[in-house]
Amino acid sequence: MKLRNILAHAGVYEAFQRLVGAERERRLYVERYVRPQVGDRVLDVGCGPADILDSLPSVTYVGFDMSLEYIQSARRRFGSRGEFEVGTVNQAMIGKHNGFDLVLANGVLHHLPDEDATALFTLAKAALKPGGRLVTFDGCYVESQSSIARFLLKKDRGEHVRDKESYLRLATGVFSDVTASVTDDLLRVPYTHLILECRRERLSDTSQTL
Ligand SMILES: C[S@@+](CC[C@H](N)C(=O)[O-])C[C@H]1O[C@@H](n2cnc3c(N)ncnc32)[C@H](O)[C@@H]1O
Repeated sequence: MKLRNILAHAGVYEAFQRLVGAERERRLYVERYVRPQVGDRVLDVGCGPADILDSLPSVTYVGFDMSLEYIQSARRRFGSRGEFEVGTVNQAMIGKHNGFDLVLANGVLHHLPDEDATALFTLAKAALKPGGRLVTFDGCYVESQSSIARFLLKKDRGEHVRDKESYLRLATGVFSDVTASVTDDLLRVPYTHLILECRRERLSDTSQTL
């Protein structure tokens, strides 16, 4: 059986995450980039087993993922701390959610071909309140990265690991306010992440002066 298929099991995925230091990765990611506020409404796209909930304050949380097994694991572990739904990122999902302060897509974009990645940005924009943010993190190719990081990215289950410019091109096709950060200190192993923060304009940002 291939590593990719083995990792599809929720228990194995979680054990692998612990091994590479994913808990610390998530904590730093939340502190530095997500910066959630108590009471925020949070939509987590491709939430997996919803491990991020351990690093969030008291928020209203909705997560969806195409894997029934991950959603069942999230329900068992977190119960009433959130709503967990089976759902796939695609055009049909756009507009199904709205009124969120934060949309997260943690480690999801690199699983999606360009068309579905654009659907993810579009559904996130529709789901956000004005001034709300979509925050994403994914593995990323950069020219100067270590051979170990590059090897790990090539072996990733996601078949659409990109370079910074390619992720940015997709994000700016939908959002006008995008900040991209490249970092290599989130995991215990050599690895390069790209974090995108995409803000939906406030109504005042778009209003014309008459
Ligand atoms: C690397 S895992 C990340 C899971 C979780 N966000 C986390 O940080 O632990 C990628 C997740 O994206 C989900 N996924 C991939 N393609 C998807 C799609 N088209 N629609 C919904 N979920 C998807 C997978 O099932 C998997 O749970």
